[in-house]
Amino acid sequence: MQNFSHVPVLKTEVLENFQLNNDDLFLDCTLGGGGHAKAIIERFNPRIYIGVDQDKEAIEAAKKNLKNFKTVQYEHSNFKEIPKKLLDKKGLFGGILVDLGVSSYQIDNSERGFSFNKDAKLDMRMNQDNEFTAWAVVNGYSEKTLADIIYKYGEERESRRIASAIVKRREKSTIDTTLQLQQIVSAAVKGDKKKAVQKVFQAIRIEVNSELDELDVFIKQVFELLRHGGRLAIISFHSLEDRIVKNVFQELTRGCICPPSFPQCVCNHKPEGKLVTKKPIIAGQQELELNSRSSSAKLRIIEKL
Ligand SMILES: C[S@@+](CC[C@H](N)C(=O)[O-])C[C@H]1O[C@@H](n2cnc3c(N)ncnc32)[C@H](O)[C@@H]1O
Repeated sequence: MQNFSHVPVLKTEVLENFQLNNDDLFLDCTLGGGGHAKAIIERFNPRIYIGVDQDKEAIEAAKKNLKNFKTVQYEHSNFKEIPKKLLDKKGLFGGILVDLGVSSYQIDNSERGFSFNKDAKLDMRMNQDNEFTAWAVVNGYSEKTLADIIYKYGEERESRRIASAIVKRREKSTIDTTLQLQQIVSAAVKGDKKKAVQKVFQAIRIEVNSELDELDVFIKQVFELLRHGGRLAIISFHSLEDRIVKNVFQELTRGCICPPSFPQCVCNHKPEGKLVTKKPIIAGQQELELNSRSSSAKLRIIEKL
């Protein structure tokens, strides 16, 4: 395993927006190398810090980084499984952090097949125990499905042209490596080649790891684990992710849900949370200069009433 390198994004803003006491539990749904974790433990010292990641290498890196902190409990799992695993601790969490997407370590580690700059097998699994890989998407999906995911998750307008080029090439031989895919996409598009390759790789990664599936359900379930006054902070890197976060937060903070035509409220529906951030927090100039990854990060926070 190569050295784990990942700079936590919006670290200052994350710290400023939690208010924890010593008796609180903290849930970190995307532990990565433990960058945010270290900062949060040093600042707030929660009673128990539960760190979840579906990538075993991330858990190993975090164990090293956080070896001096005895309050950390590690959980190798998809975070979508966590709300039901922690039902006995419902209402005990003063803070929950979800820092979505992949880490720089995953991207930079050539063997993982996330990067179009490094030749590797088409893999892109965050959880290497899963069997479904980028190879299966690229070599197995129909032309239409490929075009749809490239359009939806990659927001790439030349999706049809790219899908057609992938399928044509596949008729001769399978597409096995990141560099082969990169070359096929570059040759297929008329516009910015680098951007198109980036978007195709992003789309396939989101598909391989089912990143957007049931994200809304997960957010509602994990919110239930908070105590009153506890806060859930979510950092997203993709417009579709951010839209899901925004919509669920709006739903959780809505009061009356009667139709507008009703003269008075009959539903008695009460908001469950209040928005801490009306607009998402984004990286400042200094962070943007130091960490280009922060440029697409959006942080939204909700507090349980
Ligand atoms: C952006 S990194 C987190 C970095 C971390 N906050 C830090 O400061 O080091 C995202 C991490 O979340 C993990 N991850 C993404 N989706 C996940 C999921 N559904 N379940 C569990 N872990 C997930 C990835 O494996 C990756 O290690």
